[in-house]
Amino acid sequence: MSLVVDGKEVQFAPGETVLSASLRAGIKIPHLCSLDWACKSEAACRMCLVELEGVPRLQTSCTMEAKDGQKVRTRSPRVQAVRRNIVELLIANHPNDCLVCERNQNCELAQVASELGVREHRYRGLKKDHPLDLSSPSLVRDPNKCILCGRCVTVCHQVQGVGAIDFIDRGIKTHVGPGFHDGINVSSCIFCGQCTRVCPTAALMEKSHVSGVVAALADPNAFVVAQIAPAIPATLMETAQSSSVRTMLLRLAAALKRAGFDAVFDTGFAADLTIMEEVSELIKRVTTGGTLPMFTSCSPGWIQYVEKHRPELIPHLSTCKSPQQMAAALIKDVYPKHRDLGGKRLVVVSLMPCTAKKAEAAELGDVDFVLTTREIEELFKRF
Ligand code: FES
Repeated sequence: MSLVVDGKEVQFAPGETVLSASLRAGIKIPHLCSLDWACKSEAACRMCLVELEGVPRLQTSCTMEAKDGQKVRTRSPRVQAVRRNIVELLIANHPNDCLVCERNQNCELAQVASELGVREHRYRGLKKDHPLDLSSPSLVRDPNKCILCGRCVTVCHQVQGVGAIDFIDRGIKTHVGPGFHDGINVSSCIFCGQCTRVCPTAALMEKSHVSGVVAALADPNAFVVAQIAPAIPATLMETAQSSSVRTMLLRLAAALKRAGFDAVFDTGFAADLTIMEEVSELIKRVTTGGTLPMFTSCSPGWIQYVEKHRPELIPHLSTCKSPQQMAAALIKDVYPKHRDLGGKRLVVVSLMPCTAKKAEAAELGDVDFVLTTREIEELFKRF
């Protein structure tokens, strides 16, 4: 089955939306609320409006099922004018702090505004005045930058099955947050950070440790050590072309040394240790009639999920530390016995793929700072 989008024939699978089929065919339609997973779109942003032949009103392509032979226009003057107007309304009450915003040069809202040629504030709306939520060890929530697209709500409810945040209040006061206007630290949030990954602006961000790491690197009394999780070089390969994960790992280690790190470790070693520890625990449980099945404890986001949402499974969790914590404990305890640190204090920086590692480090100690992939790129910009 196929439809015609901007004069180009596009194949689609049964049940696929016009947006999904078009994007797969390389036809760009701006979309600020729909997600690329199999999640139902809330159609909140209206950026993906298109013209369908024979249908008088513009339709949201993220909710329209593609039909065989359908003719779609995604860039007609009418569509572009409406999209431009929507963006103008979105930025009418958005903070004008793009130059100092964490998402500067990486903001989907700014990108769409630029692509639509929005170059002035035609409307001046009331500015929001919500307090920043800094309560989480992993995340920062700034409702003033929220465009109410609902991606974070969708991913938290539909993908993670957590439901820690939702739309709150009405009218100009509408914002996304935990219930009862509480801080996110006392919600059922598991600190996985998926909301920060899908947020198109800087309304939800990881709690940055970059400045702390920069200060440690500049401190002559600090011996700063990095540990790199195996997922990090694999992720960086997406942007920094590299022939293999191993090559990327070596390049990253070299870059960290050049930035001033005194030593670099591969957390993969601790991941092997975790597996060995968990295997011996499993054997013990099997032979002594312990609780089975046994689940790994190596993901702090998963641990948070079990503790907050499925506490009946807690006895099934392995008691082993995560690779991050095992590596940090070894670095802090064993490494100084084998290397003269010159009397300097040891600072451990983890390069990790998940914001829940920040919460774990804050709770268990040994790790001083945790950098996500986005923060690593931010760190290198400073050198
Ligand atoms: Fe379709 Fe937002 S992407 S309405």
